[in-house]
Amino acid sequence: MNFEEELRKKTEDCERVILNFLPCAEGYASRVVEAMHYSVEAGGKRLRPLFLFETCRMYGGPMTLAEPFMAALEMIHTYSLVHDDLPSMDNDEYRRGRRTTHVVYGEGMAVLAGDALLNYAYETAIGALFVAQSEQERARVARALRVLAGNAGIYGMVGGQCADLEAEGRGGAADAQTLLYIHKHKTACMIESGFRIGAILAGAPQEDEEKLGKIAEHIGIAFQIQDDILDIEGDSQTLGKATGQDERDGKSTYVTVHGMEKAKEDVRVRTQEALELLDGLSVGNEFLRGLIQRLMTREK
Ligand code: IPE
Ligand code: IPE
Ligand code: MG
Ligand code: MG
Ligand code: MG
Repeated sequence: MNFEEELRKKTEDCERVILNFLPCAEGYASRVVEAMHYSVEAGGKRLRPLFLFETCRMYGGPMTLAEPFMAALEMIHTYSLVHDDLPSMDNDEYRRGRRTTHVVYGEGMAVLAGDALLNYAYETAIGALFVAQSEQERARVARALRVLAGNAGIYGMVGGQCADLEAEGRGGAADAQTLLYIHKHKTACMIESGFRIGAILAGAPQEDEEKLGKIAEHIGIAFQIQDDILDIEGDSQTLGKATGQDERDGKSTYVTVHGMEKAKEDVRVRTQEALELLDGLSVGNEFLRGLIQRLMTREK
């Protein structure tokens, strides 16, 4: 199987896992559950669960523990997108190739769908405690829960989104240090959850877990730099979201702060750093190597 086929197959596998854990629409809450399905089922690259799956697999971890975390991570990611697109935030009407959740369901319902996805993510991940087979596994699940919650919250993604919003309010003139904080927190933290949780659930050596955290930081920052580049140079159809939005909103991006050339250079440099760290792990993962390389030149 070549890399493209493998990526397609693994993405489909992740997709199946995620959809399996979504709740059924019934009773008075059915509208919000429908909106949850709408936003998650729109698709997306499923990168964060894929990272989680791969890091768990490479250390021979149990998939029964990884799966609820894969679904939970994608639910939190999707909630962050639903809220990010709200008129009070980035005000976007197109995402994952369809109209955004608030355009279809109304703003109130989109806020609730985000809240519901966040809560359901924790309900789902906590489920892993009840399928764990030993005290050791339960302890790993507990650590993984702490990473999941920490990276999504004020010391993670929400913190990054907060700084992003404040920088926009100041007219989009963030300095390089603030911008790095924003990119690391709003984007790299959720990617780090994928890498670290997979390793934790599998009981990977501590040094590997730390290296995986650093790898994720490089990849996550590079991923957001590339997102900023694609907002200028990308194709809206391919991306499944509108382009030119950062300029419209007067956002500070890696391109406005450092220029296009440096932005592209730093995507390459961080990817290279990540690949070198990957070589230093106690086990190899050729697919992960391919995926990291592939992200460097992604167009969606
Ligand atoms: C979009 O993330 C938000 C950013 C962190 C740039 P993705 O580009 O992973 O979005 P999906 O999940 O594929 O839609
Ligand atoms: C999003 O950053 C980060 C999130 C935590 C959702 P952006 O606002 O640049 O993401 P897009 O471009 O809307 O996907
Ligand atoms: Mg945003
Ligand atoms: Mg946005
Ligand atoms: Mg963007």
